Amino acid sequence: MKRLIKILRLLKNQRSFRAALSTQLVFFKEGESYALGGLTTEEERQIVQLVKAAGRHTGPIIEIGTLFGLTTSLMAAVADKSQRVISVDNFCWNPVGLTPAMHEYFTRKILRTELESYRVELVVSGSEEFRSCYRGEIPAMVFCDADHSYSAVKEEIQWAKVLGVPLICGHDYRNNRFGVTQAVDEEFPEGVEFSGVALRLVKVQLLVHVQS
Ligand SMILES: C[S@@+](CC[C@H](N)C(=O)[O-])C[C@H]1O[C@@H](n2cnc3c(N)ncnc32)[C@H](O)[C@@H]1O
Repeated sequence: MKRLIKILRLLKNQRSFRAALSTQLVFFKEGESYALGGLTTEEERQIVQLVKAAGRHTGPIIEIGTLFGLTTSLMAAVADKSQRVISVDNFCWNPVGLTPAMHEYFTRKILRTELESYRVELVVSGSEEFRSCYRGEIPAMVFCDADHSYSAVKEEIQWAKVLGVPLICGHDYRNNRFGVTQAVDEEFPEGVEFSGVALRLVKVQLLVHVQS
């Protein structure tokens, strides 16, 4: 029995070791911006412009996919004082292998000031569940940056369109690792504005669609 416990423990450690190693390898292979899952400095500049434009509308700014709250905090800093940022995450993924509980704890620490001042509301939920329960004011802007699969992005865009969200934007358009581009192109056949920087061979870009 003791031997079995020892083997199980060894296997568990081996799995954690492999996970830690693959995280480190991603950092070496991809460069910090992509590997850390957030926005580049250039993309942050674009987000600031979008949030300022969203100030022309009432309603909150919704970010789907908080990660560590770095973009959330930036959005809260530049948003109109009457607008709150609602950020949604189910803490299912982070680039450094934190458990969901540790991930949430860390993100809450980063966002402590914004959460205490109610500039930011952190909703711990899956995107789908959040969307189906949302009964608030029409958001001034929705920023999609959670599940990057075709179906998830398509559903988020459709939800925002039905609500009449004036500014629909997101991350990773034209990043061919994900299903974002197909979903966006199908939902906005008239085209979208986008900008961003090339990361190695992959273009990681923001997209924006303005509903008239
Ligand atoms: C690329 S990161 C978000 C980056 C963040 N917007 C930023 O700019 O720093 C994706 C985040 O979405 C979350 N996520 C993935 N699928 C989700 C889902 N279906 N519902 C809610 N959150 C999800 C992950 O836990 C992760 O924290």
